[in-house]
Formats: sequence, structure tokens, C-alpha cells
Amino acid sequence: MTSADNIEAIAKEAKVWRQTLHQHPELLFDLPKTSAFVAEKLREFGCDEVVTGIATSGVVAVINGTRGPGGSIGLRCDMDALPMSEQTNLPYASRIPNMMHACGHDGHTAMLLATAKCLAADRDFAGRVVLIFQPAEEGGGGARVMIEEGLLERFGIDEVYGMHNEPGLPVGSFATRSGAFMAGGDRFVVTITGKGGHAASPHKTHDPVVVASHMVSALQTIASRSTDPFDPIVVSITYINGGNDRALNVIPDTVQVGGTIRTMNPAVRKAAEQRFREIVSTTAALFSSEARIDWRPGYPVVVNDPAKTSAAIAAAEAVVGDGAVNATYAQSMGSEDFAYMLEQRPGAMILIGNGDSQYLHHPGFDFNDEAIPYGVKYWLSLVDRQLNKT
Ligand code: NI
Repeated sequence: MTSADNIEAIAKEAKVWRQTLHQHPELLFDLPKTSAFVAEKLREFGCDEVVTGIATSGVVAVINGTRGPGGSIGLRCDMDALPMSEQTNLPYASRIPNMMHACGHDGHTAMLLATAKCLAADRDFAGRVVLIFQPAEEGGGGARVMIEEGLLERFGIDEVYGMHNEPGLPVGSFATRSGAFMAGGDRFVVTITGKGGHAASPHKTHDPVVVASHMVSALQTIASRSTDPFDPIVVSITYINGGNDRALNVIPDTVQVGGTIRTMNPAVRKAAEQRFREIVSTTAALFSSEARIDWRPGYPVVVNDPAKTSAAIAAAEAVVGDGAVNATYAQSMGSEDFAYMLEQRPGAMILIGNGDSQYLHHPGFDFNDEAIPYGVKYWLSLVDRQLNKT
């Protein structure tokens, strides 16, 4: 294992990388500068393989251990930023208008780079480590695209781990939980087509506004009447559009209704979609109207494998002590596309404390550089634990 002094020195370097990345945020799959920066560092460290261009701008590095054959562990970070304006006044604030590292993916990238540097210098493990630098977590499903492009088979990945910073959790602490950890989220837009006409003669129309109103109410029953109260679910109608405020005597032909459904259980997610479709089509039919559903599947539920979660907890405890690892952290209705990797391979997502910062996606958020050494030590501890089993 890399000595503690070396890790601290490399973590200091990683702080500079992090702040450099922070100044040059890029979005979704379009990360030319970020991925070039990452690939250059990985080559400089002497990784055995550095593959670029997976899912357009994803980068994967392989580091083989010197203890002979063994397993293959995937460590994944995300690299993309958000389309929002930074308001931190930091000396290293974003230089790009309307783009900001407001979710700390700059920190995740820097920590995994530092880990690569440690591992490439000291390969005291069996098998190999595959470092996955992923684009498009914030809406593009970069993890899914990397999987579709053969990531898991090509690098023979047996198990896969992710890490995200968590504001409000003290620096030097970690949190996770076994099983469902973060929600699956789907979105929808329904276009209701009735028959418009004069507001004075509603009997000659099939009023889509009335259909939409019944539909919005009925959709609330997915959560309140069709789902087990012990299964968390959120149904939110966030968009409704129809008619014209300069023509208040006109019943429109169409109305659109949109929103999102979030669940913590893959079976509930499926059942909720089915119930949604039933409610939409039968409500429209009840009022002699038609409804077209544009269903937009989102990220799946993040499901941590129990055995791999225990391994992640043990690895974190080895770094910060068991008092600083919350092994039963609250489930979150937020989504995370690492879920796609966990659908394919056993693994676990862990949260690393970002201290008392603004929350994620806030214009005043900043990744906490004090967390870097803890993140790097966690990754190294995990590799040591999983690839040096005796
Ligand atoms: Ni994020």
C-alpha cells in the first residue's frame, strides 16, 4: 500500500487538479477538455491501458497488480457539470458562462485520478483495477451508454463501486446502506385530445381541460391507493398546458400534462407505470377523448448489493473508524445513473462527507477539498480488501 505521507502529498496535487477542472466545466457527453486532462494524467502515471472515446468522452484506465491473477474491480466516477451559473465568488470559480461543477463531479474525478496515481506506483494487489471516468451523469445516462459500448465485458469487470459527495455529512465520514439506496425516476408527458369549441356550448365539445383535471387527481391515487404504504413512491404533476388566456371563451382541442414518478423498488416502479397507463387511458376514454403518452424512462433504482455494501463499509471503517461510517443512511428520492452499472454487476454506492456546504445543484455549492484524502484512502482500502483476499 502507498504510505500515508504519499497519499497526503498526492491528495494535495489532486486539490490543484480539482480546482483546474472546476474552472472548466463541461456538459453531458461533450467533455473534450476534461477527458483529455484525465487521459493525459492517467498516461503520465503509467497505467497499463488508457482507453478514450467510450460513450464519446468516457475514459477507462487499467492497472494490473503484481500479485498475479485475481479479480477485476471497477471504480467509477462521473465528470460532467451542470448548465447553471456559479455564484461562489471563489478564485477558481467557473470561467464558462452558464456551466458549473455544482454536483462535485470535479472532486470525484480528482479523487479517482489520485487513486490511479497511488495504484500505478504501488501495485501490491492481485488481478486488476479498472478506473472508469464517466460522462453524462446529469441527465444523459452516460453509464448506460458505456455499458452498451461493452465496458463491463471488455474490461472483465466483476464488481463495481461508486462514490458521491454528500453535503451535510461531516468531512471524514461516509454513509451508505444495503439494498435500495436512491430512487428510480421516470418522466412523462400526456397529450389529451378532445374536441374544442365555444365555451358557451360545452355540450358540443369533449373538454380536455376537464379530462386533464380528473387525470391529475386520479394519478395521485397511484401513491395513495395502489401502492403498499411501506413502499416509498412520489407522483408529481409538474406541468400542465392548454388553452389561451386571450381566448377565455374557447375550449381548447388539446391539453398537456407532465410530471415524474419516483420509486425505491424496481417492482413498484414497473407496477406504477402500468397503473399510470391504465389511469390515463381510461380517464380519457371516460370523457370521449384520447390520450397519447410520451413515457421517458429515467435512471433505475440504485440497489446496493448486500455483500459488496459490507465490503464498502469495512473499507471505509478501516479509513475513518466505525463511528464515522453510517451503514443505514436514509434512502434518497434523488437519482444516480450508477444504477445502470449496479443492474449488471454487484457493487455499492457510498457517500463521502462534504461538510457544511450548500446542497448539490445549488449555485453556491463547492466540493470540499478536505475530503480528497479520505476519498482516495477509501478507494485504496477497497482495492486492498477486495483484491488481496487471502
Ligand atoms: Ni452528482
